[in-house]
Amino acid sequence: MILEVRIDDLQKRFAKTDFEKKILGFPFGFDRAHFIDEGEGGAILGRISANVSSRNPEAGYIGFFDCDPSVAGAEQRALSLIGQATVWLRDRGIRTVHGPVNYHTLFDYRLRLEDGPGSEVPPEFFWEPSQPACHVDWFRRAGFELVEEYHSRGYHHLDRILPKSQDRFDQALAKGFSVRPLDFASNRTRDLTALTRINAGSFEQSFLAEPFDDRAYRELVAPRFAALLSEFSFFILNPSGEEIGYFFLFPESGHLVWKTLAILPEYQGAGLAAFGIHHALTLASRNGITRVVSALIRNGAQSEHLLKRGEAFQIWEHRYGVFRKHL
Ligand SMILES: CC(C)(COP(=O)(O)OP(=O)(O)OC[C@H]1O[C@@H](n2cnc3c(N)ncnc32)[C@H](O)[C@@H]1OP(=O)(O)O)[C@@H](O)C(=O)NCCC(=O)NCCS
Repeated sequence: MILEVRIDDLQKRFAKTDFEKKILGFPFGFDRAHFIDEGEGGAILGRISANVSSRNPEAGYIGFFDCDPSVAGAEQRALSLIGQATVWLRDRGIRTVHGPVNYHTLFDYRLRLEDGPGSEVPPEFFWEPSQPACHVDWFRRAGFELVEEYHSRGYHHLDRILPKSQDRFDQALAKGFSVRPLDFASNRTRDLTALTRINAGSFEQSFLAEPFDDRAYRELVAPRFAALLSEFSFFILNPSGEEIGYFFLFPESGHLVWKTLAILPEYQGAGLAAFGIHHALTLASRNGITRVVSALIRNGAQSEHLLKRGEAFQIWEHRYGVFRKHL
């Protein structure tokens, strides 16, 4: 039986992790609803959310989707959940739904698709979507089509990729650009202000971008981010010492993970991402890291150009997608 969960019950009846409890308990300004599939004895067999976009009143999202594939009639249950969420959106005048997106792209979104070709089986990484493959079939059967694809790629021989960005590094250094570590322990207020300014400027035009929610970023995203900060995360400074870009990278399972790179639009196209990459790869190499992962990059995104230098050393690819339905 599908039931709508009241906002004040979300943490108890809908959330699965402490982080989800924080997101679900946050006072977002957009209209949202949450449904569970309740089985016998109150067991929760599936769930889904629906919310309206803050940018476009005719666009919405479905997210936090889950449905236990081992329970009898799982596909029918899944289709009912997706159907309930889309009807809720349609009743509010929504014409286009994207999913799965947990409210918006600040939080988890995308479904894992079939892996791309590779010579090695990589580890599973904590930051990537991972769900039973049948969820993809269920979205398709519910009338959703794959509209955007993303990939994470693994590379070995970091030592052979590193020299390829030396020229960009030297040029930026000669022009007076520099780096400084991102460090919430000693610089929390200044660093958070710089991060929100850079994010608001550089992700403005991203696929499914919503108005940048400064408070949600500071209270929900930044604390998670802080736990992963190390010398591999840093700001790029212009010759006057102002933060004009940042790199959020961290080591995991012997890999250097390139998670987020952002350069303010007025500084883009000048080789500064390549400058930052070179700095990060140098640090990694000094720390004995020999592999790199480019994480969750959209097919065709500008950041794909940065991967050219590693192309010959790619050893695996994970793929993900966002789905869409017109109502
Ligand atoms: C992605 C991003 C960080 C790149 O920063 P940047 O400083 O503009 O990148 P660079 O100038 O170092 O360019 C990197 C390479 O891509 C190439 N490139 C960039 N745009 C290109 C284009 N449209 N066509 C062909 N090559 C292109 C550059 O020539 C450069 O290669 P080179 O060093 O061999 O000449 C920046 O565009 C950005 O912040 N985008 C918004 C946020 C984002 O999407 N981040 C990535 C996902 S987390």
